[in-house]
Amino acid sequence: MPTALITGATAGIGAAFARRLASDGLDAVLVARDAGRLDAAARDLRDRYGVAAETLTADLSTDAGIAAVEDRAREGADLVVNNAGFGNKGVFLDVPVADELTMLKVHCEAVLRITSAALPGMLERGRGAVVNVASVAAFATRGTYGASKAWVVSFSQGAMQDVAARGGGRVRVMALCPGFVRTEFHERAGMDVTSVPSFMWLKDDDVVDQALRDLRRGAVVSVPDVRYKAIVAASRLVPPGLAAKVSARTGRRYD
Ligand SMILES: NC(=O)c1ccc[n+]([C@@H]2O[C@H](COP(=O)([O-])OP(=O)(O)OC[C@H]3O[C@@H](n4cnc5c(N)ncnc54)[C@H](OP(=O)(O)O)[C@@H]3O)[C@@H](O)[C@H]2O)c1
Repeated sequence: MPTALITGATAGIGAAFARRLASDGLDAVLVARDAGRLDAAARDLRDRYGVAAETLTADLSTDAGIAAVEDRAREGADLVVNNAGFGNKGVFLDVPVADELTMLKVHCEAVLRITSAALPGMLERGRGAVVNVASVAAFATRGTYGASKAWVVSFSQGAMQDVAARGGGRVRVMALCPGFVRTEFHERAGMDVTSVPSFMWLKDDDVVDQALRDLRRGAVVSVPDVRYKAIVAASRLVPPGLAAKVSARTGRRYD
């Protein structure tokens, strides 16, 4: 049975990936820090979809946590979803630099190392995929968060080029760039998102559905939903200074 390894699989977008992939018949390796939530999520997948579901308790802001997931990815996973992520409370000038470094560890170092661990086996088998969850913030100016997600997009594009140059067959690397999705993310980051209009919110299941469709058609960057495709396209047309001003303010207030 093919296996999907999903980081941040206990909530939000990661949990939606886990449900959808299990319903498609893939076995699951679920990664997060909270062991109790991981066990409950794995039990739910077994009960509802009859798949095998393992748990791996790992903190991706630590070397040991990343190494444990690298080991599991090397053992074999047909689809890896590097999804775990978070927002810091406040703008760059107000956030302790240690917290910004933790973000880079989870968003960039963990993604780099887990992707590097997973790809050789996929190339050997001639099939497999890595989906790296970035954000539309990658195309905007959103402090360290946006910069880290821009890295995820650029890294994924480069990795896909390298895979293709090696005759990667059916091996794919794709960056997924959602807009606002109703998850635990904003509450955990202490963000007040009451000013974000309701039409801007996406559902986690729809984001996953679009991502998997884009993956099947060979997209390297997936921006779910026509509203956000239009926003990303428009942001490339306006002067960079104006785009930065608008994007730095949109929907972001801290409690
Ligand atoms: N929600 C949005 O509007 C939105 C938009 C664009 C992009 N994204 C991106 O989508 C991804 C998922 O976000 P979400 O909205 O689904 O967030 P969420 O609901 O807060 O879920 C985050 C998941 O990541 C895990 N996690 C957090 N820190 C971790 C760490 N250090 N080590 C291991 N696991 C960790 C959490 O579990 P534990 O706490 O148990 O570890 C949880 O399972 C993130 O990369 C985020 O940047 C979100």
